[in-house]
Amino acid sequence: MEREARYGAHNYHPLPVVLDRGKGIHVWDVDGKRYFDFLSAYSAVNQGHCHPKIVQAMTEQASILTLTSRAFYNNVLGEWEEYVTRYFGYDKVLPMNTGAEADETALKLCRRWAYDVKGIPADKAKIIVCGGNFHGRTITIIGLSDDPSSYDRFGPFTPGFLRIPYNDIPALEAALHDPHVAGFLLEPIQGEAGVYVPDEGYLKKASDLCKSRNVLFMADEVQTGIARTGRMLACDHEGVRPDILILGKALSGGALPVSAVLADDEIMLTIKPGEHGSTYGGNPVACRVSIAALQVVKDEHLAENADRLGKIFRDEVGAIASDRVELVRGKGLLNAVVIRPKDGQTAWDVCLKLRDNGLLAKPTHEHIIRFAPPLVITEPELREAIDIIKKTINELD
Ligand SMILES: Cc1ncc(COP(=O)(O)O)c(C=O)c1O
Repeated sequence: MEREARYGAHNYHPLPVVLDRGKGIHVWDVDGKRYFDFLSAYSAVNQGHCHPKIVQAMTEQASILTLTSRAFYNNVLGEWEEYVTRYFGYDKVLPMNTGAEADETALKLCRRWAYDVKGIPADKAKIIVCGGNFHGRTITIIGLSDDPSSYDRFGPFTPGFLRIPYNDIPALEAALHDPHVAGFLLEPIQGEAGVYVPDEGYLKKASDLCKSRNVLFMADEVQTGIARTGRMLACDHEGVRPDILILGKALSGGALPVSAVLADDEIMLTIKPGEHGSTYGGNPVACRVSIAALQVVKDEHLAENADRLGKIFRDEVGAIASDRVELVRGKGLLNAVVIRPKDGQTAWDVCLKLRDNGLLAKPTHEHIIRFAPPLVITEPELREAIDIIKKTINELD
């Protein structure tokens, strides 16, 4: 920890615990103490730490061919592209690495479609985004944010965006009157903002409105996707098929950065050779890992497990008799507990005590703790973890 403070940039404030091993739902610190991992690397490790099938895919491919760049073909990318497009039901996929890059790619695709297909005059395209959004850390993306800790003193920012309140259909309707609007980018559940679940029907209404105005509905499922909320995609809860689907994190089960944008030909083929890319995007190791990671989600029924266990989590934690617990909300195994500060103790203090008791979670903003275990967790394991949360709250009280 001291070395990181001395030699590393100070752009994170980790919980003081140093991990050196992970397996399934557990991680171990350097002293050998075991913890439940209830963050899952911000939902990247949905398949559990070091899943043997993912590790096998990675290590096998790593000793054969790791990177060709897209200057040449490699013998795995096409297989991954076919697998992923069939898996999610789109014509085409574009591979990148991080979630932020996939979001940037979606924004570029949306603008290109606006000019080439929708016929918006050059450089006039606008994209609607939501208050409370989190799409990553690039300059364009932080320019969409209304959280000062994301954007303050990093300007000036990219023009061409309109921000409306989240979960507000009338605001969307009003914004859509602008004929230069090309797309609407949103998270189906706002994870970083504190697991804000919109009203039932919001996604469907928003998607229908976009369709009626010939505006692309773009879902950032980087955090909510890949079974986290109890369906393969959070949009599946309302039968919504985004025009542009943005995936990352658990697309590789936490093994290495893999992200992707999916769309049909009318949108995807507007970008031509040489107009977008990434040196590492679509590398053979990423492709093998991603196929394995997605296959694990299906084979081990992780969406069904998240759906069932999420209800138990919300029921049990919501029933904790303490005024410290203000609210429990979420979907599937993406949940948040809103902590009411008490005796000068905040969500951070609760997380320190949870750590002492063998469970790792992290506050998002001042008073919200996100609980998102790997989706391979079983019911007895979940109940054991819930007992730790109950015990921790009782001890603090
Ligand atoms: C919804 C959403 N989009 C994008 C990102 C950015 O992903 P990355 O950190 O891989 O760039 C995140 C990360 O938390 C996210 O939650």
